[in-house]
Amino acid sequence: MKDAARARAREIAANHLTRGEPLAWFEELYSAARVGEAEVPWADRRPNPHLVEWMEGRGADWGEGRALVVGCGLGDDAQFLSSKGLAVTAFDISPTAIGWCGERFADTRVDYRVANLLHAPGSWTGRYDLILESYTLQAMPEEVRRVAMTCIPPLLAPGGKMLLICRGREASDPAEEAPWPLTREEIYGFEEYGLTVREFEDFQDTDGEEAGSPPVRRFRVELVKES
Ligand SMILES: C[S@@+](CC[C@H](N)C(=O)[O-])C[C@H]1O[C@@H](n2cnc3c(N)ncnc32)[C@H](O)[C@@H]1O
Repeated sequence: MKDAARARAREIAANHLTRGEPLAWFEELYSAARVGEAEVPWADRRPNPHLVEWMEGRGADWGEGRALVVGCGLGDDAQFLSSKGLAVTAFDISPTAIGWCGERFADTRVDYRVANLLHAPGSWTGRYDLILESYTLQAMPEEVRRVAMTCIPPLLAPGGKMLLICRGREASDPAEEAPWPLTREEIYGFEEYGLTVREFEDFQDTDGEEAGSPPVRRFRVELVKES
């Protein structure tokens, strides 16, 4: 079932990429899924287990910190962070995804917004103690991702952390179709924009995005903006 969902998502993505619209396919996929004509392959309707494990391992002592969830999809990770006491803003480029979050979590404390990472509101600059980016950069072709990566660090407050969860590959491995795994070198590229890599985990994932599928190489990386 997941394979069929992924194949359909790749087809929709490929059509938009051919037309030079690398970010427009998300809305088409969510709106087809909303009326039962497609499935969102990454939407497991539960928080990402690699986020949950990371939060639990770090004592969840975030006080009343502010968190930002990049490309929040159907909102499970944002809800999880909110349940830990963080004041969460979660955004997605797809209006349908954001509307869906509102319906799924009618009493939410999360501030769900339609926004494009490439044009984030100026009021978000320097505001967040924690930024979660899971599986969004890998859904962008490399030339867009290069720009998107420069847009995240300015949003962190001094001393703030970013948690990045993504597929991983060697620079010499092919990355022909979505999702495009990141390389270690690309991630260390965040250091040019003021972040320091604190922890870099490289593992075979048997859960997460792809439950029931063969293991995939995954990176989970904690970065910090030095104050
Ligand atoms: C592969 S999905 C991952 C969703 C979610 N983070 C998860 O782990 O389930 C990528 C998400 O990022 C959103 N997205 C893609 N490009 C974006 C952009 N430039 N700004 C905001 N959201 C974006 C998509 O609409 C989609 O919901």
